[in-house]
Amino acid sequence: MSRIFSGVQPTNNLHLGNYLGAIKNWVELAAQPKNDCIFCVVDLHALTVYQEPEILRANILAVAKTYLALGIDPAKSTIFAQSQVKEHVQLGWVLNTIAKMGELERMTQFKDKSAQNKNNINLGLFAYPVLMAADILLYDTNLVPVGEDQKQHVELARDLALRFNKLYGETFVVPESVIKKDGARVMGLDDPSKKMSKSAVSANNYISLMDTPAVARKKIMKAVTDSGAEVKGGADKPALNNLLGIYSLLSGASVKDLEKQYAGKGYGDFKTGLADEVEKFLVNFQNKFNAISDKGIEKVLTEGAGKARQLAVAKINLVKNKIGIL
Ligand code: TRP
Repeated sequence: MSRIFSGVQPTNNLHLGNYLGAIKNWVELAAQPKNDCIFCVVDLHALTVYQEPEILRANILAVAKTYLALGIDPAKSTIFAQSQVKEHVQLGWVLNTIAKMGELERMTQFKDKSAQNKNNINLGLFAYPVLMAADILLYDTNLVPVGEDQKQHVELARDLALRFNKLYGETFVVPESVIKKDGARVMGLDDPSKKMSKSAVSANNYISLMDTPAVARKKIMKAVTDSGAEVKGGADKPALNNLLGIYSLLSGASVKDLEKQYAGKGYGDFKTGLADEVEKFLVNFQNKFNAISDKGIEKVLTEGAGKARQLAVAKINLVKNKIGIL
C-alpha cells in the first residue's frame, strides 16, 4: 500500500491549471486500490496571506466540494481541513526546531511571495514549508502529487524527515514528490511564459472552474497564439503547446492526434474545438459541485478529520516519546 497526501489552499476559486496540473493526478492515484489517499484543504497555510474571514470560511467548503466534484470519492479517500487536526501545528513546531533559517531562505516560493507582498512578510510565510512538511510527515506519506512549483517544498520535507530520523531514531517515512510531466505546468492564456495563476493581473490569464462556459469560450478565443497558422506544436510555439496540452488532457486525445485532426485548419477551428471541450468539462464539474450542500460537505470534512486524527495522534505520540516531552 502507498500512502498519498496532498493539499490545496482555500484562497480562491480553483482554475483549470490547478485541476490539470495537480488534482487530475490525485484522481488517477485515488482510483488505484493499492493507494490510500488523504487530501487536505490547507487552511492554515492560507492564513499566511490576509484572508477575509467570511470568504475564507466559504472557500474552505468550496475547495472541499471541488475535490468531490472533480472525482475524489470520500468513501475511499480521506478529505479534511488542516485546522481541524491540531497535530499539524504541533508537529510543525517540532520541525521548526530542526529546520534551518538558511534552507528556508532558499525557498523560491518564499522569495517570490515576499517580493510580491513586501508589507506582510510574516513569520508564518517563512515557516510555510515547515508546516507543509508536517502535513506530509504526520501520515507516513510515501507519495506527494503536486505541481512542479512545490517540488522544492517536498524536498525540504524529505530533508527534515531524514534529519529527525538521524537525531532521534527511525520515526518518519521519507516522502517523494510525484510530478506529472504532461500538465504539470499549465501556462497563462494571455502569457504562455508564466504559469496559469489566479493572482494574474488579467482574468484572461486563467479559466476558473467556476467560469460560465460563455466566459471560458471568450478567454480561449482571446488566448494568445504564436506566429504561423498551422496547428502544430514545437519548441518555438509556447502558446500553441499550452493550448494543445490543455486540449489533450481534457479530451484524452494525444497531441499528435489533435495535430492530425486540425491539419489544414486554422487557429480559429482549433480554438473552437478546445472551447467545446472546456465547456463539456465545466458543465459536468459545475453540475456536480452545485449538487453538494454546505451541510453535506461539512459532514464529509468532520468525518475525514476524524479519520485523519487517528493517524495524526499516533504519530505525534511517537514523536513526543522520541524527543522526550510528556
Ligand atoms: N503548498 C502547497 C501549494 O501551495 C499546498 C500544500 C500544503 C501541500 N501542504 C501540503 C501540498 C502538503 C502537498 C502536501 O500548492
